Amino acid sequence: MRIGVLTGGGDCPGLNAVIRAVVRKGEGVYGHNIIGFRHGWRGVVECKTIDLTVSNTRGILHRGGTILGTSRTNPYKTEDGVSRALDTLKRERVDALVAIGGEDTLGVASRLTDEGVRIVGVPKTIDNDLSATDFTFGFDTAVQVATDALDRLHTTAESHDRVMVCEVMGRHAGWIATYAGMAGGADVILIPEEPFDVDDVCERIRHRHLRGAGFSIVVVAEGAVPKEGTMATQDADVDQFGHVRLGGIGTILQNEIEGRTGFETRVTILGHIQRGGTPTAYDRVLATRFGIEAIDAVHQSDFGTMVALRGADIIRVPLADAVRELKTVDRRLYDAASVFFG
Ligand code: F6P
Repeated sequence: MRIGVLTGGGDCPGLNAVIRAVVRKGEGVYGHNIIGFRHGWRGVVECKTIDLTVSNTRGILHRGGTILGTSRTNPYKTEDGVSRALDTLKRERVDALVAIGGEDTLGVASRLTDEGVRIVGVPKTIDNDLSATDFTFGFDTAVQVATDALDRLHTTAESHDRVMVCEVMGRHAGWIATYAGMAGGADVILIPEEPFDVDDVCERIRHRHLRGAGFSIVVVAEGAVPKEGTMATQDADVDQFGHVRLGGIGTILQNEIEGRTGFETRVTILGHIQRGGTPTAYDRVLATRFGIEAIDAVHQSDFGTMVALRGADIIRVPLADAVRELKTVDRRLYDAASVFFG
């Protein structure tokens, strides 16, 4: 078989581990021919390919990012995008695709499956918000980066008697904020799933400071929103998948907290640091297992599926199930985290 591989959406530590595993087993064990499409669906639309071999995918396991490049191109929002993509697959004699991505990339994969393209999906996103899999690779690395940052913010917060606001990624789901906040001992965690009242946030901080703590750590997911009418926010640009470019709630909160409590407050926006760099051991193993399962699925012609983690097992689920709804933070997890608030 001639098999195409692509990585779409925001990059994520572990993508190269998937590519390496697909190639190692695809070429090395099954004898398939593997090619990579550059920059996600854009490479399929524009027919930009590179050969992937066991030899040119050596030494990439620990490398962050993706050797294929990525983009947020949506063929369904690009002129003639779908017909150009289908032409490319025909011209390049591609029998099957392994699409590695989050809800947007896999959403396109699911629609193309309906058009007859033979695809197996691999779930990736640092946000961990894909349904049908317990965890996505990249999430563990992002949580570790954010936890390390919180440990560092703790010591400087304590030295200066300050409130430290740390903004982390997560536009629709607060998985990174909740996990890193729990691991890093946050005093308040704000996530998109639970609109917040800034008065409550300030009250918790005052309460903590009255009990003798001189500093506080607030973790806020970039997509966290205030309860209607409680605090002003700002509008942002939209991409091809209709997502707004976020980043800014941390700064607004910093000003509000300092203005309302009088406590000196600083903000740190972690941003893309959470997505860059080397994957954790957990993410390398998960990504490798996903890659092996994906090439097995292709080899067995089990198309229209996505590989997923269920408990300790790697399973296959229908692609359509994976993109039907976002996986938001479990209320019981957030309740456990909130025992330590204020
Ligand atoms: O890939 C998901 C994500 O990391 C979100 O958490 C974040 O909102 C977004 O990507 C940032 O996207 P970009 O890299 O396009 O700024």
